[in-house]
Amino acid sequence: MSIPEEFTSQYIDHASAEQESPLYKAIVTSKEPYRSLAKQNFHQSAKYGYHHKIEHAPADSPAPGLDLENDDLYYNTEGAAADYWRDANLPKPSKNINRLRQDLAEWGYCLIDQALSDEQLTCMKQRISDQAAGERKAGIASWMGTEPAPGDKLTTTQFVHCLINKGQQFIDCVEHKTEGVQAAHVIERLISESIGERFLMSSFIAIITNKYNLPQGLHQDQAIAPFQDTAAPYTCNTMFILDDMGPHNGGTLVVPGSHKLLSAPGTGQPITTPLPPAINLTAPAGTVMIFEGRLLHGSGVNRSDDSRSVLVMNSIKPFMRQQELHMFSAHTETLKNASDKLLYRLGAIPTGLGGIEGAWNGDHLVGQRLALEQGQYLPVGELSPDSTTEELNQDFGYRHSEVGARQAPDQPERATAKSTAS
Ligand SMILES: [Fe+2]
Repeated sequence: MSIPEEFTSQYIDHASAEQESPLYKAIVTSKEPYRSLAKQNFHQSAKYGYHHKIEHAPADSPAPGLDLENDDLYYNTEGAAADYWRDANLPKPSKNINRLRQDLAEWGYCLIDQALSDEQLTCMKQRISDQAAGERKAGIASWMGTEPAPGDKLTTTQFVHCLINKGQQFIDCVEHKTEGVQAAHVIERLISESIGERFLMSSFIAIITNKYNLPQGLHQDQAIAPFQDTAAPYTCNTMFILDDMGPHNGGTLVVPGSHKLLSAPGTGQPITTPLPPAINLTAPAGTVMIFEGRLLHGSGVNRSDDSRSVLVMNSIKPFMRQQELHMFSAHTETLKNASDKLLYRLGAIPTGLGGIEGAWNGDHLVGQRLALEQGQYLPVGELSPDSTTEELNQDFGYRHSEVGARQAPDQPERATAKSTAS
């Protein structure tokens, strides 16, 4: 097929080379803020930036791939980094909504004291420990988060995915019910004030680190939406802390206040002021940390002999894509028994985005999913006025959608089932 010359790739490349694009190429290809975060000898106590590289550790290190002695590496927080923050009024566990709100605004995170009751903590910890052991035994454990240490095939950090299928308490947490987490209303309020009440649950996972796991590179969770916005975050995390954590077992690394520092230069712009050092989050088991999507963070190095578990639930504004495709991965029973609130959070009641064949606005999508899993969902394919009545009267999935059923009685030209029979 021949097309006009101006539409060929060759012509476009040639014509484009002659002039600067007035579009946004520089921004969409900037690789910021990560290019700036990787700068060497620029940020404080982060000699090689905030990315871990195995080659920066001595080959004979007792912790393969790590250098636990060098204060200048971002994941070692007890030397110069601790000195830097010694007199700062960083967030401490609190039950006071006003203190929590203040911390979240100023530092990008806050710590809810005893967010889980003793009983809720015990129950959650046991369930995660059993589930993780079961997945290891089944040979389906998920080893993620960092690259493996030298000589290992897998990383030592285990993720347990899609917790909504793995215990009622996790569903209660998604729905913000106090039966699952006693601080549910505080958590829900802080998320709502940060990203709006109509947020979606993007993913809910457990992260279990073991001795000498490599640290994560520090990142912003909302960098998935490549905009730096000083006004407000787009995402918000709820982290359930199941073991006492601190520098000894790799308490989550965060750079306090980085939500402001990273967004200040603007989308696609380099960071020109060095960032302060990271800290390892220190908090007792049962604390819930809320942190917003612009905060620089990542898993720290567990130097203890015990594993260290946290659950992370990510919430996002409803225009964003969810990390987990819940309409695919949720158990049938989870979906069948779900409240409207849970379905909404899972993305099963879309409000404009993420629908199926026009069932976009407020339709429940559970019926489509159940039909699909029974091999009975028939999408509408090619049709025309010349299609046979049999073709026209197929049992399309759309007929069973709420919008399809609602409009069916008033369809002006429908070739009826009667005419099929005749
Ligand atoms: Fe993250």
